[in-house]
Amino acid sequence: MEEHSPPELELLLRYIAQECGIDCRKYKPNFLVRRLASRMRVHRVSDYQSYLYILKKHPEELDALLDNLTINLTYFFRDQSAFEALREEVLVPLIRQRDRPGRRQLRLWSAGCATGEEPYSLAILLHQLLGTNLPHWDISILATDLDEKALQKARAGVYDAFSFREVSAQALSPFFSLQNGRYHLAPEVKSLVVFQRHDLLGNSYPSDMDVILCRNVLIYFTREQHDHIFSMFHRALRDGGVLVTGKTEIMLGPIAALFKSINLREHIYRKVRTDLPRSPAPPQE
Ligand SMILES: C[S@@+](CC[C@H](N)C(=O)[O-])C[C@H]1O[C@@H](n2cnc3c(N)ncnc32)[C@H](O)[C@@H]1O
Repeated sequence: MEEHSPPELELLLRYIAQECGIDCRKYKPNFLVRRLASRMRVHRVSDYQSYLYILKKHPEELDALLDNLTINLTYFFRDQSAFEALREEVLVPLIRQRDRPGRRQLRLWSAGCATGEEPYSLAILLHQLLGTNLPHWDISILATDLDEKALQKARAGVYDAFSFREVSAQALSPFFSLQNGRYHLAPEVKSLVVFQRHDLLGNSYPSDMDVILCRNVLIYFTREQHDHIFSMFHRALRDGGVLVTGKTEIMLGPIAALFKSINLREHIYRKVRTDLPRSPAPPQE
């Protein structure tokens, strides 16, 4: 956030941080101001002080604001071509390479997983690839997000037609059961994914990942924060590990030297070995 934001805005942000543990000062100032303005319009107030008063008086407004700040839009196999490339160019060779006693292990991370469609798409891919051999593999898919409400929905594993915008529910029917018009994920797919709350700007990162997906998340962040997150992903990956970003997430400047492209169009990169200093602190605005 700008160094000299108005005191009313500071008070408002401090209140949000105190009530829900989310430090909004880390977001791009323009993004934050636009999101706040859209909630303020709903309540027909034009200053931060009045909006803070509304937040205090109506705790449910905090939920509405958080919904507005953490855009959870996602669906199964979003950007199908990226999943196809991931399958053919990353997972198939990786499985071939690891398919021997004592090496049948895969660690994947969906960072910014929203309501779970992305990590569950990974789980479905692995079921399709490994079939009846899956029980012989040690597979962990970590799925993290800042938004606890989205994580709750993800853990339930129950979806509406909206989540099947790119791949039809019919095509994925072996992995779902239809109950009262809603699609319930099969337990054997659900059990591959572990959901955790994690702030990409605040928490320490896991390690030894084979594949990290971080797609359509970094739009909220500044260039310095991108660099920080990319260098943390670099550390979180095993040697030769793979990072997949979204179509709008581009590595610029020196940070791009940490990865080499496997598939430029689909934003799939392989970690390049370097000797970076350990764990820098996240940049503040
Ligand atoms: C548009 S969704 C992306 C979902 C999925 N990756 C996809 O591409 O379909 C963006 C997610 O990023 C999460 N997010 C925003 N800031 C974050 C942060 N600092 N740490 C972790 N997740 C964050 C939001 O809560 C939201 O669920």
